[in-house]
Amino acid sequence: MRMGFREHIQTEKLPQHVAIIMDGNGRWAKQKGRLRTFGHKVGVKAVRETVEGAAEIGLKVLTLYAFSTENWNRPKLEINTLMNLLVETIHQETPRLINNGIQLRAMGDLSQLPKNCQIQLQNSIDQTADQTGMILNLALSYSARWEILRAVKELANQVRVGLLNPDDINEAVFSKHLCTAEFPDPELLIRTSGEQRISNYLLWQIAYSELYFTSCLWPDFTREHLFEALVAYQQRERRFGKISEQVAPL
Ligand code: IPE
Ligand code: IPE
Ligand code: MG
Repeated sequence: MRMGFREHIQTEKLPQHVAIIMDGNGRWAKQKGRLRTFGHKVGVKAVRETVEGAAEIGLKVLTLYAFSTENWNRPKLEINTLMNLLVETIHQETPRLINNGIQLRAMGDLSQLPKNCQIQLQNSIDQTADQTGMILNLALSYSARWEILRAVKELANQVRVGLLNPDDINEAVFSKHLCTAEFPDPELLIRTSGEQRISNYLLWQIAYSELYFTSCLWPDFTREHLFEALVAYQQRERRFGKISEQVAPL
């Protein structure tokens, strides 16, 4: 691929939060005549590349879709491989995260994960908690509808016990009950593998995100692909319902 997107990035116009749907591991492996699980293994390399590229360029938050609620419906063998890979990778990568100043977080219905997975995840989250660089937020056993329903239940309970007046529920209050409460909404959402759908990811938060789809399969994704997406993002005009003259720089 063409190189050199990095030098075209305007650092003062970087998004703070980028979300990625890492898709295409299975097809990548199939093209090579290998098992789908091989694609997931090689996909880990792309995760490392992307995380380090994102931290290097100065993103504040990177949210990666690693395993969806719907992914629990995959064959058991594939789920097991993914969970084992998750434990191994998090264990191995924690020192590198610390070297790069990266703080690990996770969001989703984490109680559904195997116990060893939950323990390793919490370990790495604790170990990186003091880091002050980029936040790497993993969406695990996550779906946006699960997250939204959870928020609705929390709000309903607050109303029931008299802590909240329904009239006081607004976008800001609602956002505070989502898993991403501390983060700004992602300005940019990237999906690899050529699929053009959201697959139950961050439905509330991407209301005004720029969507970027690339045919690149996840195991082939490199920091250059990330930088290419950032350049494309910076070329877009974000109007938020206004007209061009209102938002264009003078
Ligand atoms: C993304 O790749 C990884 C996960 C969803 C865990 P896929 O496994 O969905 O690969 P494809 O889309 O079948 O090629
Ligand atoms: C979305 O990819 C979930 C993750 C990347 C973890 P999928 O491959 O599961 O999504 P669909 O099935 O194509 O919608
Ligand atoms: Mg897929």
